[in-house]
Amino acid sequence: MCRIRGLQTTSRGFRNDPGWVLRMVIAIDGPAGAGKSSVARAVAKALGFRYLDSGAMYRSVALAALERGLEPSEVAPELRIELGTRVLVGDRDVTDAIRTPGVSEAASRAAADPSVRAAMVARQRRLLQDGDWVAEGRDIGTVVAPGAEVKVFLTASPEERARRRADELGADPATVRSEQALRDERDTTRSHSPLEPAPGAVVLDTSDLTLPEVVQRVVELAYPQGR
Ligand code: CDP
Repeated sequence: MCRIRGLQTTSRGFRNDPGWVLRMVIAIDGPAGAGKSSVARAVAKALGFRYLDSGAMYRSVALAALERGLEPSEVAPELRIELGTRVLVGDRDVTDAIRTPGVSEAASRAAADPSVRAAMVARQRRLLQDGDWVAEGRDIGTVVAPGAEVKVFLTASPEERARRRADELGADPATVRSEQALRDERDTTRSHSPLEPAPGAVVLDTSDLTLPEVVQRVVELAYPQGR
């Protein structure tokens, strides 16, 4: 496949024309527990794209602020965050530490601060400048990469989302559901970059779909005529 790096187009015609395939960003946004991480990782693996977990950045900022007794806006600009198979803050592996319910809650509060968002969005845009990416979060299609060739808004019923996350954490579904409701409310009503489907996003309700089914649909959106 011929790739021309550094160019981008929103024209589906160009993208689907073999021999004239440009770099691609697939934006996957949606609320907690909709399956974004599993889907984004699997799509990235299937297509050989890189994977950006933007939520891990907000979580890392929240964790560092909590531990240092500082405001998220004070730590966000300088914090060294490395995303990969493991998440590193400075030299420390925080992969598990950023997934606790306390950090989830703190991340959603930190993410409502415009100065924290500005710092994270700038880093995310720098990363997405080159190469093929699957990026997931809340504002990838609306703010970080509005020119993304594929935009998906993944959702599922609140019950199903809570059930999935409770399974993952080994926690009580009712407790998870009320914590998620609080975060959903904050994420969708904040004045800066609220969670909402991007213009042109395909809304996918995953309540009754298996992971491979969702992955296949996203891959088909990227390559309707196969690869
Ligand atoms: O995995 P889950 O969907 O529960 O959360 P996450 O994607 O790791 O994000 C944690 C929190 O960071 C969310 O509740 C949002 O408040 C915030 N976030 C955001 O505001 N914008 C993003 N692009 C990603 C996450």
